[in-house]
Amino acid sequence: MKKIFASLLLVITFCKSYADEGMWLPLLLGKQVYADMVKRGLKLTPEQLYSVNKSSIKDAIIIFGGGCTGEIVSNEGLIFTNHHCGYAAIAAASSVNNNYLRDGFWALNKSQEIPAKELSVQFLLKIEDVTDKIAPQLEGLSANDRSKKQAELISQFNQQYSDPSQNIEARVSPLFKNNQFLVFVYQRYTDIRLVAAPPESVGKFGGDTDNWEWPRHTGDFSVFRVYAGKDGKPSAHSAENIPLKPKYFLPVSIKGFKDGDYAMIYGYPGSTNRYETSYGIRLATDINNPSLVGLRDVRLKAMFEQMKNDPAVKLQLASSYASIANYWKFYDGETKQLLKYQIYEKKQAEEAAFQQWAKGKPEFENIFTEWPKVYDAWRPYAKHRVYIYEGVLGSPLAKFAATLIKLENDMVKNGVDAAIVKQDLEAAGNARKAFLADENKISDQRILAATCQMFYNDIDKNQHPIGFYETLKSAYGDLKEPDTYKKWATAVFSNTMLLNDAKWQAFIQKPDAVTLQNDPAYAYAGGFVKNYLNKYDNFFQQFVLKNNDLGRLYLKGIMQMDPKKKMYPDATFTMRVSYGNVKSYSPKDGVKYDYATTMKGVLEKYIPGDYQFDLPAKLIDLVKKKDFGQYIDKRINDLVVCFITTNDITGGNSGSPVIDGTGNLIGLAFDGNYEALSHKLAFDKDLNRTICVDVRYVLWCIDKLGGASNIINELKLVKQ
Ligand code: ARG
Repeated sequence: MKKIFASLLLVITFCKSYADEGMWLPLLLGKQVYADMVKRGLKLTPEQLYSVNKSSIKDAIIIFGGGCTGEIVSNEGLIFTNHHCGYAAIAAASSVNNNYLRDGFWALNKSQEIPAKELSVQFLLKIEDVTDKIAPQLEGLSANDRSKKQAELISQFNQQYSDPSQNIEARVSPLFKNNQFLVFVYQRYTDIRLVAAPPESVGKFGGDTDNWEWPRHTGDFSVFRVYAGKDGKPSAHSAENIPLKPKYFLPVSIKGFKDGDYAMIYGYPGSTNRYETSYGIRLATDINNPSLVGLRDVRLKAMFEQMKNDPAVKLQLASSYASIANYWKFYDGETKQLLKYQIYEKKQAEEAAFQQWAKGKPEFENIFTEWPKVYDAWRPYAKHRVYIYEGVLGSPLAKFAATLIKLENDMVKNGVDAAIVKQDLEAAGNARKAFLADENKISDQRILAATCQMFYNDIDKNQHPIGFYETLKSAYGDLKEPDTYKKWATAVFSNTMLLNDAKWQAFIQKPDAVTLQNDPAYAYAGGFVKNYLNKYDNFFQQFVLKNNDLGRLYLKGIMQMDPKKKMYPDATFTMRVSYGNVKSYSPKDGVKYDYATTMKGVLEKYIPGDYQFDLPAKLIDLVKKKDFGQYIDKRINDLVVCFITTNDITGGNSGSPVIDGTGNLIGLAFDGNYEALSHKLAFDKDLNRTICVDVRYVLWCIDKLGGASNIINELKLVKQ
């Protein structure tokens, strides 16, 4: 790593950067892109961006929960993140009578804050390069041995850099497709409390219709607080805990900005694969994406039917529905954009150029003779895999049932009295409780029937579990008829012990393998999953192993082929910085999208009583009175709701701070635009936009809609 970046350093000044593409490592900003950032409008020093010794912006940026970003905005551990990041916690804090998800929640003092038991946040303490300690030990190994050794070494370093007594967790992240290794050291805080959330009609305004789209009018924010023990150290939830005094927090600007202004985003982009091959693009557009989309479509419809009229079911399924829907729309859009912009053909051209260069270089010249074979070997089973994970296991009942495979195996192998079986049974009991808490039987039964039929129709008959559909046919009728599957699913739901407390208790008291094997839910889920795991998963493992190894070589080659190219590693849910500008765009011929949306547009989209476009009465009142206070945008003479920037981000960045040239918070990133949904695999320098909620809208909601001036008073507002 060090070596490579040392040589990169020399050439930076000579190469022109790609417009706004790049998720840069914070520790290398100063060396790699700082000059360009300044040219674009940055007014801070490299040390203010990232420093190991002094507090810097990086200290205000946190991993929020399991897959989002948040930022500290006050001296008392106040956190801003997206509404969709706090969604599960808000839903969990809600009940039909205290429906904070629907009505919003505003803590008017600290004692009203609600503990969010499942949440934690992580602060990045440091980043260290361990490439020199890992890479040499992997040299010359076969793909298989390399992957094993790498996993071993990583777990060794993770342990070495961690300190459980301080909640310090280290995670080595392989970068540039396993060519470099950095260890990221975090400290985790687990006492997190809900401070504020707008009503869902604001926080998720536009719903899935507007998701991944610009122009947007969503107030996608929520507010939490991190607490620590009196000594400032991480501490489990306790009334004794006090708000964390952070090393750094972001000032909040209500000055406003205009088209073209500088914007940078810190955060935790989850994954990209910008050096995916043409074969990978084809696999996605032909098989993986359409399969996932088709299966999720059916699951979502079944869930929505039950959610739309019953507030209890809505609360119960809301979070799971939102996450399934989010990537249902994403993968549909990704396919469309990959095809529209001919990414397959572009990748082919890049690969041809690489092959030209690789001629006569033994390490690289055979990559593209090997690679198609690797894909050919896996392709016949790819759809089957998606149908297992997104179809068969898309039924929550089947998903729970499949967790019992280990129990079955252990009972058969060791007898029902073995200690391991006791452990399995206890785990099964806990898993069952969690499953039942989220279970909606009507939608699940429909999902079970529909996905079982889709598997029958769409998966190669040679790959079906032996005997299952024959038995189904003789018991329930014609396999072409949806009714056959519905009758079967009804029987599964009435007869399975997994949904029946008395039968389940009887089984736990006196477990035996045959009872489990004969359970209709287990027979189905276990049968399909074991069929896949025993016969086909090995092909997948081989595919991943070889694909990764060729990917590593390909990227190594690319870095040698064009040593002047300024490179950033693919996203790996590690901290990155992206810089760009607030910027309007033209999505298609004859159409121009403005850089910001306003309250005027919120009212234009308003549909009273609608599931996605309703609004709180109070909000409408305030807008009619033009009660925008200090949050109004004087240039536009309205409240700015959302805006777009050219920044390069992806899922995981949700909740990320959008920061101006002087280091002040101006918004929260929460989405990407539809026209650039190919962004995980190919960044589009003309069309890519990050969609952000304006922090002035966030503050207006907190202040005027929620009446929580206590929160505003805690912030460091920048007015001029
Ligand atoms: N697309 C957003 C993201 O991935 C999530 C938006 C959530 N809103 C929704 N309507 N599902 O960050």
